[in-house]
Amino acid sequence: MSDASPHNPVAATAERAERRWTHLSIAIILVLIAMASFAGIHQATMPQSRVEIVDPSTLHLSGEFIESNLGTAVGPDGAVTVRLVAQQYSFTPSCLVVPSDTPVTFRATSADVVHGFLIAGTNVNLNLVPGYVASYSTRFSEPGDLLMPCHEFCGVGHEGMWAHVHVVARSEFQRLAGGQGRLSCAGQ
Ligand code: CUA
Repeated sequence: MSDASPHNPVAATAERAERRWTHLSIAIILVLIAMASFAGIHQATMPQSRVEIVDPSTLHLSGEFIESNLGTAVGPDGAVTVRLVAQQYSFTPSCLVVPSDTPVTFRATSADVVHGFLIAGTNVNLNLVPGYVASYSTRFSEPGDLLMPCHEFCGVGHEGMWAHVHVVARSEFQRLAGGQGRLSCAGQ
């Protein structure tokens, strides 16, 4: 590179281009390092305050995740919360009902090993680690029937572990939620 003589304009042009591209790629790498550092340091100081723990051995006995409290709940302020528990090899409830075009918060945990779930066609994607509550808020744009598979290998029955998410129109949901208790479509 350095021996390109002024008598060889092609080599000189090539050298200039190479230097420019080298500087550009170094700049890109520095920007990426800065982004990764910022995200790492910023995130590392944030999540502790949001960690919620729960005792997986007493889930079914008391607290938020007892069976009668699982499913979709509508709070006094109209907030929609879906609570579910994962265990080898099913979700409880196995069929969830949620309204479209409404903020919905999922709260879930595992009773045994690490599970996870995603809801097909949405950006809902959670890992369920025993001892911790996973939560995520989202909004479903339109009614439909969506699949919700477990996406963490959790044992021999992993591939058979999935649930349905039944997204119904807001008005239909309000009709369904008229009664008390928790909504689900499990058993239908
Ligand atoms: Cu549960 Cu895979």
